[in-house]
Amino acid sequence: MTMNGKVVLITGGNAGVGKETAVGLAREGAHVVFTSRDPARGADALADIRKRSGSDTVEVMPLDLASFASIRTFSEAFLASHDRLDVLVNNAGLVQQQRALTDDGFEMTFGVNHLGHFLLTSLLLDRLCASAPARVVVVSSHAHKHAGGGLDFDDLQSERAYKSFQVYGKTKLANIYFTREQARRVDPSEVTVNALHPGFVASRFGRDGDTGRLGDVAMVLGRPFAISPEKGALTSIWLASSPDVEGTTGGYFYKCKPSTPSKLAQDDEIARRLWAVSDELVAGAGA
Ligand SMILES: NC(=O)c1ccc[n+]([C@@H]2O[C@H](COP(=O)([O-])OP(=O)(O)OC[C@H]3O[C@@H](n4cnc5c(N)ncnc54)[C@H](OP(=O)(O)O)[C@@H]3O)[C@@H](O)[C@H]2O)c1
Repeated sequence: MTMNGKVVLITGGNAGVGKETAVGLAREGAHVVFTSRDPARGADALADIRKRSGSDTVEVMPLDLASFASIRTFSEAFLASHDRLDVLVNNAGLVQQQRALTDDGFEMTFGVNHLGHFLLTSLLLDRLCASAPARVVVVSSHAHKHAGGGLDFDDLQSERAYKSFQVYGKTKLANIYFTREQARRVDPSEVTVNALHPGFVASRFGRDGDTGRLGDVAMVLGRPFAISPEKGALTSIWLASSPDVEGTTGGYFYKCKPSTPSKLAQDDEIARRLWAVSDELVAGAGA
């Protein structure tokens, strides 16, 4: 019971990797709060997570990362009802075949996978610092290596061209930039920040033809090799709870070991630029 007395928040914990992360950390004794954008899916997952972990210190709260208003409402409610936050797991994510927009007018994949978590983390950072030593765990992906040449700062909203798997790869690259820059901006004795690839996981992710034609073929061909969501959650659980990574920050991990992200992902100038632009986008949207 390494996590007794710790409060863990997991975004998108009603399904897939996030749900199994919730089960694993609840088993270790953590007080787990997970988010769900759909109340019915959230209630079903809550019952299942409590049953399988044998813990009743698990709760669900509503959050839609495609809405800055929802992120603000959620953060206020979370801060009002929890005096500490030991671990934040930025897990929720999606890939979309058709370009769509968040409530605030940002391309959906970029808005949810990167900008929403960017705002959420900033709203919760003081509580993380006050709970030191705290951790932020960012679920990225090896798909960041297929980001079509990297971020295009002249077209971050993919208005000119929209290739769903490439757009997704860019957001997972943004997750690594966010991790490195957030790690640089916070004292590691207060908060560490690390990213990970969960593996190719047989979750609901990308199942609805959301990855584009090439992505669909890869998903179908790769499916027999996919690991279970339970296995996919192991690196998130390890980064959230293991003494092995105490004080480690700004890293990228796979299978509970350090992994080298693409050369592009290691460019900290781009990380700084993305941070500044994200700040402006969030402020410009009145968030
Ligand atoms: N599956 C893989 O092979 C794989 C590989 C590498 C990385 N990843 C990453 O792993 C993470 C978890 O994915 P998964 O495989 O567990 O997929 P999943 O089963 O589809 O779960 C994704 C979770 O994100 C939530 N979500 C989606 N849009 C949201 C929004 N607007 N606001 C709040 N929550 C939202 C989903 O909620 P709903 O149930 O409401 O849709 C769900 O809880 C993602 O960040 C993904 O990029 C997955």
